[in-house]
Amino acid sequence: MSLSILVTGGAGYLGSIMVPDLLGLGHKVTVLDNFLYKQNSLAPVCRDPNFQVINGDARLAETVAPLLAKSDVVIPLGSRSISWVTASQSASP
Ligand SMILES: NC(=O)c1ccc[n+]([C@@H]2O[C@H](COP(=O)([O-])OP(=O)(O)OC[C@H]3O[C@@H](n4cnc5c(N)ncnc54)[C@H](O)[C@@H]3O)[C@@H](O)[C@H]2O)c1
Repeated sequence: MSLSILVTGGAGYLGSIMVPDLLGLGHKVTVLDNFLYKQNSLAPVCRDPNFQVINGDARLAETVAPLLAKSDVVIPLGSRSISWVTASQSASP
């Protein structure tokens, strides 16, 4: 059975592994990512007809709501990695 899968933060480390596998299983995959790191990790699948990528913020209801309405499954991976925490932030209580 082919599912429509929304992967928020899908251009990150886990998404770049997971998304090609999901496409390989025959699912339709939409990635919503704000490309925090200017990464091109999904270049290998960008021509797949079952793949769609949207550059946007997963925190915005007006962005996410229409994507949720057409998705069977949501995989939420959007996050800021720990490497963004500065020394002064990590030292605070
Ligand atoms: N990598 C691991 O081994 C691991 C293990 C356990 C849990 N996790 C969790 O899984 C999630 C994903 O991990 P990862 O390693 O792929 O992280 P990552 O930092 O490589 O990827 C996160 C992605 O989220 C995107 N992003 C950040 N804020 C966003 C926003 N507001 N809207 C849209 N996209 C946004 C970034 O551009 C990036 O592509 C994280 O929550 C992480 O804590 C990761």
